[in-house]
Amino acid sequence: MAHGYWQVRDQPVNIVIFASGNGSNAEVLVRWAIANPARVKVAGLLTDNPQAGVIQRAGRLQIPVRIVEKPSKSIAIQNPRAWHESAILDAISGWRPDWIFLAGYMRILSVDFLRRFQDPVTHRYRVVNIHPSILPDFPGMDAYRRTFESGVSEGGVTVHLVDEGVDTGPVLAQERFPRLSDDDLASFVTRGQSVEHRLYTDVLARIVENGGVFP
Ligand code: GAR
Repeated sequence: MAHGYWQVRDQPVNIVIFASGNGSNAEVLVRWAIANPARVKVAGLLTDNPQAGVIQRAGRLQIPVRIVEKPSKSIAIQNPRAWHESAILDAISGWRPDWIFLAGYMRILSVDFLRRFQDPVTHRYRVVNIHPSILPDFPGMDAYRRTFESGVSEGGVTVHLVDEGVDTGPVLAQERFPRLSDDDLASFVTRGQSVEHRLYTDVLARIVENGGVFP
């Protein structure tokens, strides 16, 4: 009914991944898409960081990459974020993304940007994020380290829709994992990241099984 626009599609759901760093989540999403070509296609990867490890990963997986750096401070631009986002939209428009998956993308997207991906029926944005804590605990940067240093007995991972706030959108999936007595930060993060990889591919699967409709 209301979602008929999606349900009649017989093309794979087209996703674009945004990442700023190592790219382990990007890689598992790409690998899942490669294994399910009738249902989903990773049209490309966008990064703001020319040094990001994800660029090599995408190259190995034969995924097109666009690098769009934020404008240098030496250039006089009134609204650097709007400038950057406009350049990003230009760079990815040919990929015609149905969904954006943020996989360690370390920038906040403006409402103007999000509106480009607004569902006409639900008014939600077709933009998903993975965050390394049980939100609403530990929003923002460096959540594994802050969780670990707080001394709690569990860490966690959240996959959520992106809204206008920072790490505040509707939760699609959450999972806790234990902090073991002999953990250091590195072993804690490694355990968390294996949860991330499973949770993010589960959410991708849910979205594409719905033909691109909100899960
Ligand atoms: C992941 O742990 C992800 O949850 C986190 O960045 C890491 C990227 O790792 N994202 C955030 O903190 C977003 N606020 P990856 O590059 O190996 O996928």
